Amino acid sequence: MTVPIKGFSKLSKEEKINWIALHHTSDPERTRALLKSYWNEDPARQQLHDEFTENTLSNYYMPFGVAPNFLINGQLYAIPMATEESSVVAAAGKAAKYWMQRGGFSTKVLGVEKTGQVHFFYKGDFEKLKQFLREIKPIMIRDASEITKSMENRGGGVLSIALRDKHDVLANYRQLHCTFDTRDAMGANFINSCLEQFATTLKRELISASGFTEEEKAIEIVMSILSNYIPGCMVRAEVSCPVKQLNEDPGLTPEEFAAKIVRAVNIARVEPYRAVTHNKGLMNGVDAVVVATGNDFRAVEAGIHAYAAREGSYRNLSYASVQDGQFRFWTEIPLALGTVGGLTRLHPMVKLSLEILGDPSAEQLMQITATAGLAQNFAALRSLVTTGIQHGHMKMHLLNILNELGATTREKELIIHQFRKQTVTYGAVTAAFQKMRNN
Ligand code: MEV
Repeated sequence: MTVPIKGFSKLSKEEKINWIALHHTSDPERTRALLKSYWNEDPARQQLHDEFTENTLSNYYMPFGVAPNFLINGQLYAIPMATEESSVVAAAGKAAKYWMQRGGFSTKVLGVEKTGQVHFFYKGDFEKLKQFLREIKPIMIRDASEITKSMENRGGGVLSIALRDKHDVLANYRQLHCTFDTRDAMGANFINSCLEQFATTLKRELISASGFTEEEKAIEIVMSILSNYIPGCMVRAEVSCPVKQLNEDPGLTPEEFAAKIVRAVNIARVEPYRAVTHNKGLMNGVDAVVVATGNDFRAVEAGIHAYAAREGSYRNLSYASVQDGQFRFWTEIPLALGTVGGLTRLHPMVKLSLEILGDPSAEQLMQITATAGLAQNFAALRSLVTTGIQHGHMKMHLLNILNELGATTREKELIIHQFRKQTVTYGAVTAAFQKMRNN
């Protein structure tokens, strides 16, 4: 039964646990014990994790794995992945190996421009405001210099400030549409701080400006915030090889296999129901790297799916072609990632992920992440157009089913052996398990 509580955040951790256990669970003792069993044994480390967010009761485990053999632009990587989905890491590793034998992945950063906007309402002559903005732009930049100084020292900063008229879609709505280069930082705090300063300067300067009516001076700043839609911050990852080298799938000639992959991609181009799942397969790889490296997966997800819908219909994020006997499979996605700031220096596992990747720059991490996405997407399509997805999927899921049934290590070994040549279904595994127990 849910009960309201006042001042929950002010309770001690112990009190919070007691309250939740008592009011929201059927066995308070078991809840207390469970939550505490997931605490880190080192109190200092636990405190570090507690302080990442509010009202922390315990830790939430997520498997942290690694997919080796990723050859990217001639360099080998082992890619750390944090994901709960059983087949993701295995599929990534398989695709990495497949493409390592065919020249590996090539990647390129296509742009690093991020966007933020000051949304405001201005009742008046837009051309006059435009001229005024031209005049005060240097003041805006100067006012923000405390914020931008260190970013500029690192080669980044504010790239542009433009005034946009949105009056035709919403009465009196105008915006400052600004772009930034945030170097190795994801840059959310930097961008938002700059935008808030721009808004303050705009309002202040307009109040003391001559030539504006009182109504024009009374602009209403609604909000200043970065946009997670970043079509200017893009990366491409691709693989290619002669069609005749696509020769590992029994039952299909290399030409048939290549044609099926192209068809699968074409379906995702025209059918949003399929496009969403097609892209979900790609995001299986992207998200796992984004999470392992402590980046903001909600921002990445929002930006990528908005990009997939940029033509007005939701479409595929990867593409395939066969031309002159050459198979090509590639993706182009927007990615705002950071390798400094945020959790990067705080979370020990994030630090380790970055170390495993050779302490990459943000641009390198964009390329690695897109590669993981493309590999994952290829692995899914390869299964889908050959054996079907359930073959590999259920094999990986077998262990989850056995764990759910409470199988011992020996029972797991025996049943995994038994299902090497048998189709895995929940019912079949349960029956085999029960039979084994009865015997
Ligand atoms: C499952 O997590 C992902 C897939 O559905 C992707 C796809 O269908 O392409 C297998």
